[in-house]
Amino acid sequence: MTLNRHSSYIPAVSTIAREAGTLLMEYFDKNIKIEYKGVANLVTEADRKSETLIRERILGLWPGHDILGEEEGLHDSGSDYRWYVDPLDGTTNFAHGFPVFCVSIALEHKGQLIAGVVYDPTRKELFAAERGSGAFLNDLRIEVSKTARLAESLVATGFPSHKRHKNPNIFFYHQITLRSHGVRRAGSAALDLCCVACGRFDAFWEFNLNPWDTAAGVLLVEEAGGRVTDFRGGPFLIDSRQTLATNGFVHDEVMHEFEQILSGRGLEPLPVISE
Ligand code: IPD
Ligand code: CA
Ligand code: CA
Repeated sequence: MTLNRHSSYIPAVSTIAREAGTLLMEYFDKNIKIEYKGVANLVTEADRKSETLIRERILGLWPGHDILGEEEGLHDSGSDYRWYVDPLDGTTNFAHGFPVFCVSIALEHKGQLIAGVVYDPTRKELFAAERGSGAFLNDLRIEVSKTARLAESLVATGFPSHKRHKNPNIFFYHQITLRSHGVRRAGSAALDLCCVACGRFDAFWEFNLNPWDTAAGVLLVEEAGGRVTDFRGGPFLIDSRQTLATNGFVHDEVMHEFEQILSGRGLEPLPVISE
């Protein structure tokens, strides 16, 4: 791996992510206690234990840095450095024993993402990127796919674990499914983004993700040569409510489809169910 001036972060963050992933697997391999936060958001003890571990490790190494984590919120001292931590992305999968989940950790410096690590402990896959140094999967360089057309693309999306009834994404899901090789909805936005980064998916979109879901994965896609914007091609901001990440080649075509859907044009009629 070629490293830049922030190179000191990736080895240490990888160690932290692996440690948190190992902790998650200890819970996953047992019967975990399922709790409920909100209506349908399953939260486990593993979420909280993982975030506590990650916070302790980060503050042990970089005591002056700020951290925004999903479970404990923001510790804000006004530092130029801010960490984004999703201690368990894919909690619903985890709680049901479906092995698609990860740890996601990213670092921002003066508002710019500079390092990101996503660790999938079920496959022992560690995705890592630093700004300007490329993206890596288990230390091997990764790149986005070269697929040129949506019709030949495998695409991914996600649905939030709450307010599902208000989410317009089912219309997008329907339309993009008809125009691609299919849309996967695996339940971990951070891993979806990593799959775009390494070319398994050609595109991913989702509404209303949070910074801890996207921070590391967005940097991975960009460093792997992909493109990340909002649904109209505007810049992706860390608190964006729209995330569109692609290999770059199919980006305009996906945005065109979104424009059609948002303007109510080109919608397919509800199919008749055949016997
Ligand atoms: C969720 C996952 C899921 C996405 C949801 C997220 P969580 O995160 O990333 O794929 O569709 O929008 O909230 O709750 O499992 O950390
Ligand atoms: Ca998440
Ligand atoms: Ca989470």
